[in-house]
Amino acid sequence: MIELARKNFILKRQDGAAGMMDLPRGCAKLVYGSPPYPNAERDYGVWKTSEYIDRIAPFIDGALNVLSDDGFLVINVKANREKKTAKTSPKRSLVVEKLAIALEERWHMSCVDIEIWVKGNPVPTGLRCACQDAYEQNLWFSVSPKWAIDIDSIRRPYESHSLETYSEYEYKPRSNGLSYVRKNKTITPNPLGALPTNIITGGVSAKKGRHQAMQPLYLPEKYIKACTKPGDLVVDPWVGSGTTGIAALELGRRFVGFDIFQEFIDIAQNQLEQIKEEDVNG
Ligand SMILES: C[S@@+](CC[C@H](N)C(=O)[O-])C[C@H]1O[C@@H](n2cnc3c(N)ncnc32)[C@H](O)[C@@H]1O
Repeated sequence: MIELARKNFILKRQDGAAGMMDLPRGCAKLVYGSPPYPNAERDYGVWKTSEYIDRIAPFIDGALNVLSDDGFLVINVKANREKKTAKTSPKRSLVVEKLAIALEERWHMSCVDIEIWVKGNPVPTGLRCACQDAYEQNLWFSVSPKWAIDIDSIRRPYESHSLETYSEYEYKPRSNGLSYVRKNKTITPNPLGALPTNIITGGVSAKKGRHQAMQPLYLPEKYIKACTKPGDLVVDPWVGSGTTGIAALELGRRFVGFDIFQEFIDIAQNQLEQIKEEDVNG
């Protein structure tokens, strides 16, 4: 059993699925990670579409072992296309959609949302049979069918045109209570900002070199803020260069990460040690 007491982070060279089985049951509030992408040819191998659900299944079982009853799982992933042949175009794989359905039907989790990360600077694919690939999916699931998130922590600045519209019109609630139609009520903007959308827009990570598939910090940050409180434990079973750990520690959460390559564990260890030192020195 991995000992968690009195440490704010642990990194281990171990299969992430097995590692999550070694953690105490129900110890984590969030499992966030980006697995090897379907069909992506990386130094760490290829998880083919045809075997993808079988390969990721032990990780979902592991996540459900570590997650508390009010916990969340977020998987950031994108399906690469099938290879073209003499008779077929490189069709887009639907395995991510199949995984989302399996999370509900096989693992009985509840879908908070499938959020879209729109990449401002996507890597060119050179495709001529479909449009440029410019987004990834964040499968956001809850262990419990009734969940609570901290929506205020992820509010965004209002668009200036929304503020102008609010100041010019009066609204009245619809009878279903969910939205407003014009007349009778002035909307006062929330001082904490507008409600967040399920679309995240931004560049892919600018820092190259540490890892082939390094994430930008703003991705894990959103879900860590929304799903956890300071002191809660976040687990990433595919830690890579440690981006999730950096976000977790900077937000005052605890962190456990696994990777099968010592090289990545060393990179992540170095990153997280620096945060510790900065905290101590600061
Ligand atoms: C998409 S990358 C994650 C990148 C990471 N989010 C970052 O920002 O650097 C996937 C990672 O999963 C790791 N991996 C592959 N198979 C694994 C396994 N069975 N257990 C744990 N990690 C694994 C790879 O070594 C790779 O670092």
